[in-house]
Amino acid sequence: KAFQLLKEKMDKGLFPQWVLTDPDIYELEKENIFGRTWQFLAHESELKEPGDYVTRWMVNDPVIVSKNREGEIKAFLNSCSHRGVHLCTADRGNKKTFTCPYHGWSYNLEGELIGIVAGNKVYGGEMDKGDWGLREIPQIASYQGMIFGNLDKDAISLEDYLGEMKWYLDLMLGRSDGGMEVRGLPQRWVAKANWKATAENFAADPYHVQTTHRSTVEMGISPEDPLYAGYGHQVVMENGHGINVITSKTGKARVPFQATPESMWPMFEKNLTPEQLDIQSRVTVFVGGMYPNLSFVSPIHGTEGHLHNYLNFRLWRPIGPDKVEVWCWFMIDKSAPEEYKEAAYRGYLGSFGPTGTLEVDDTENWARIVEVSSGLMARDKHLNYNSINNYLMGFERVEPDSNFQGPGTAYPTTYIDAIARSMHEQWFKLISEGVMMKEEIV
Ligand code: FES
Ligand code: FE
Repeated sequence: KAFQLLKEKMDKGLFPQWVLTDPDIYELEKENIFGRTWQFLAHESELKEPGDYVTRWMVNDPVIVSKNREGEIKAFLNSCSHRGVHLCTADRGNKKTFTCPYHGWSYNLEGELIGIVAGNKVYGGEMDKGDWGLREIPQIASYQGMIFGNLDKDAISLEDYLGEMKWYLDLMLGRSDGGMEVRGLPQRWVAKANWKATAENFAADPYHVQTTHRSTVEMGISPEDPLYAGYGHQVVMENGHGINVITSKTGKARVPFQATPESMWPMFEKNLTPEQLDIQSRVTVFVGGMYPNLSFVSPIHGTEGHLHNYLNFRLWRPIGPDKVEVWCWFMIDKSAPEEYKEAAYRGYLGSFGPTGTLEVDDTENWARIVEVSSGLMARDKHLNYNSINNYLMGFERVEPDSNFQGPGTAYPTTYIDAIARSMHEQWFKLISEGVMMKEEIV
């Protein structure tokens, strides 16, 4: 029924507000979106030695991601085969075996059941341990060090899924020798928010910056010009992915190469194509997302004389229609000078993360959206994304810029709802496909 109501609106080109907190829509999303798309698990730099592991979640599926003796990355459901207990509750560590706290069954780094307490005495010789290993995540793959999992064994490959986005990942993650590395631990916290709103806030919404983050203007960190986050390009890509390449009025950043140390620039020249290098030399902020729930921001940050650049990846793990667990990774060029890495890390902690100034600004708005989306009147209210009466931000008033150097459809402003609309299309497509599949089976 929720799907029928949704379909009526979407067919008319309307995006209704109630879908942000509706429990039935949320159930459809869990199965049809998160059950079938590639979910970010970890970065390879979090798993250095054989036996290193981290524990993560794919919405409600707990996952152990570990490195085996051969150096391969494995991912298992973090639930014992015996009675289902949550096997490993540590965030990370190094182990040869995972032993269940309930009855003591133990598993090796291949996920194989290798030990049963009093096994031969209570189970006899007939029990085949091979039948009772940990369940493997159906697909895992990595790109530029980013490890993803997919619960659908028939889903398209990660590379095909990322598609045009790979070019931008190569730029951000592959510009330096040795790539990027995670520094510190991923911070995580719970926010009152819907995952669609948080993902969209990052991937599709530089327009909020001048109002939500007004304090940065008042502190003199950001310019007065209300269009300042709108200069540059918004690039729409297949499968709901998108990136904003924010520059400035002149098409250049205040400082070249995002204020990275000059000693790093020859490395960028070596590792990037001329087109990527040109963008990297001019950009102020990259901000975008991989559908459905992985976002990133790579800013120039700080005050004059103390500017730095870093890459922040964040996963919006839905834990309900109106709650997300935010997972937030700080990443920096592995081969950057050590003191620069530390300065950038401190800058990041002051702005993003649970106590960061920018984070608090955003969190407040996300909470305000879900607070008011489950009332009766919200059921008949649509939001301003669509071309009703042509009240449209940027889009359709602006032609794509065919001179932009990167793949995707690039609009010459980031104050535009192009990515937001493509995310909604992808969202509705995945839900519809799932519902159709079910109907066929019935
Ligand atoms: Fe894990 Fe029994 S539930 S050993
Ligand atoms: Fe923000």
